Amino acid sequence: MLKTTNCGDLGEEQIGSQTTLAGWVSRRRDHGGIIFVDLRDRTGVVQVVFNPELAPEAYQVADQLRAEWVLQVQGTVQRRPPGSENPAMATGTVEVIPHAATILNSSLTPPFYITDDVEVDESLRLRYRYLDLRRPKMYRNLVLRHKVVKYIRDFLDAREFLEIETPILIKSTPEGARDFLVPSRMQKGSFYALPQSPQQLKQLLMVSGVERYFQIARCFRDEDLRADRQPEFTQLDLEMSFADEEDILQLTEELYTGLVESLTPEKTLVKPFPRLTYDEAMERYGSDKPDLRFGMEMADATDLALETEFRVFHSVIQAGGIVKGFAVKGQGHYTGSNMRELEQAAKDAGAAGLSHLRLGQASSIEALEEEAVQLSPGLRMPVEWSRRMAQRVGAGPGDLILLMAGPAKQANLWLSAMRTYMGERLGLGDPNAMTFAFITEFPLFEWDEEHQRWHSSHHPFTSPATGEEDLLDGEDLSRIKSKAYDLVCNGAELASGSIRIHRRELQEKIFTILGYPKEEIVARFGHILEAFEYGAPPHGGIAPGIDRLVAMLAGSSSIREVIAFPKTQTGADLLFGSPAPVAPDQLQELGLGLLE
Ligand code: AMO
Repeated sequence: MLKTTNCGDLGEEQIGSQTTLAGWVSRRRDHGGIIFVDLRDRTGVVQVVFNPELAPEAYQVADQLRAEWVLQVQGTVQRRPPGSENPAMATGTVEVIPHAATILNSSLTPPFYITDDVEVDESLRLRYRYLDLRRPKMYRNLVLRHKVVKYIRDFLDAREFLEIETPILIKSTPEGARDFLVPSRMQKGSFYALPQSPQQLKQLLMVSGVERYFQIARCFRDEDLRADRQPEFTQLDLEMSFADEEDILQLTEELYTGLVESLTPEKTLVKPFPRLTYDEAMERYGSDKPDLRFGMEMADATDLALETEFRVFHSVIQAGGIVKGFAVKGQGHYTGSNMRELEQAAKDAGAAGLSHLRLGQASSIEALEEEAVQLSPGLRMPVEWSRRMAQRVGAGPGDLILLMAGPAKQANLWLSAMRTYMGERLGLGDPNAMTFAFITEFPLFEWDEEHQRWHSSHHPFTSPATGEEDLLDGEDLSRIKSKAYDLVCNGAELASGSIRIHRRELQEKIFTILGYPKEEIVARFGHILEAFEYGAPPHGGIAPGIDRLVAMLAGSSSIREVIAFPKTQTGADLLFGSPAPVAPDQLQELGLGLLE
């Protein structure tokens, strides 16, 4: 090795010893003839002091150094002179006095400083990702990710799960997004699809008798990107035979609990993980991934809304909609301008507006006086109504009540966005809390109004809830529950899974309901339907998103921070410059041409 010690490992124990270091010049300062170099490697930074009197040749080398040059030094570790210690540096009590120095490579001036405390435009960071990853925080994220994956592997290995790789070039897998396609050269006009997840492959492994499978699997989805979505991302994909929902949930809870407690002990957990059915989550939080770090539970107030003369409420309710709201503790003092900010936030979330009650101080809700209540302009109701509304949403004197009207689905969506907004505005979400919860009993299907067809809420391989199979022949499929579950945390979906269908007949029926013609069912899914006829065992599984988990553990708001080479929001790789046009002969070889 070109070094004997890591920069960040030096401390008082090494004082007096000889060391050889190799790393990058983080900073170089010339102080009246003495050159100070902060030398950095992956483990940290240490100060090297070049004195022309002590080592003239090494000093000559130091005189040429610039930021990010690669340097090797041999020298003695010594205690820093009193008063020159740097408590901000882990190695701040020592320094290295070199007797030899070698330049291993020079560097162009980097486009940004390689430190954690400088704001740099993200596209510049992605264009020079190899420099961005030199920043200590980014390296720490890579280490954390490595540890998460290692923890998962050890945890599952100890429970007799087998890690099995599945193909990347496969056939379309319906996970609700668009496929990335790869043209075949040998069979012109035919395409592979990159897997949206290894869903069918892991099910086939259950038919094979593997019983316990996992994979750190790369998944590919051509969908609209956001801070928590990448076109290629990583799942811990796992599947078990002869397991019921309870087994999978317990295994998942044990995995996440152990992982968070051993890798990020500063985080707090609520144990056991709370469980909410989908219906309960929608009713209480208007969302199937509620942030449970704070309360602000919602309540339906449609009946109370009907007592008002507010036209908006009446027209929404007449059209089948609802009015729902929640209380914000201690914010009844909000000013008109505060309320306009909240209304703007509601509009940004897609709502037409926001109604409110600002409750003044009183010894109790019953003692609240007429003049202590301020209602939004449309409401004009007596204080007795406000008291009933307060009781409905669990508000007390001094609280603010927010109300929204809309078709049930939208009202929930908008109100839940307001709940998140208020949580952020008031800083209610403890950044160190990881409040996991399981959401269960998802509906099997969702009605797609635009295309007038049913979709699977999870995916088509999900089993209906026990005893609900008969409802598949009925009219209202929206009532059918499934054996699908999600793991959510702090308002994000971290994992999804289900108990699967393992009989051909039922699987075919689901495909038919989803609108696939018979020939297409055979063409697209014949392989798995056939496999089900050869003794497929009952099975189920789950797929935790690794990127989202690591981002949350690292306290990053975007998964791009925990992926070595991520794509931008528009799916571009700024470092390689992809996607990019290809040479005409490459297209020709594939039997492809481009439309004008
Ligand atoms: P699902 O599609 O819900 O389920 O995905 C499971 C988990 O993967 C993560 N995830 C993503 N992460 C980053 N970028 C994306 N574009 C992205 N899409 C999904 C999320 C999500 O919870 N085959 C099923 C699983 C199963 O049934 O076992 C599946 O893929 O954290």
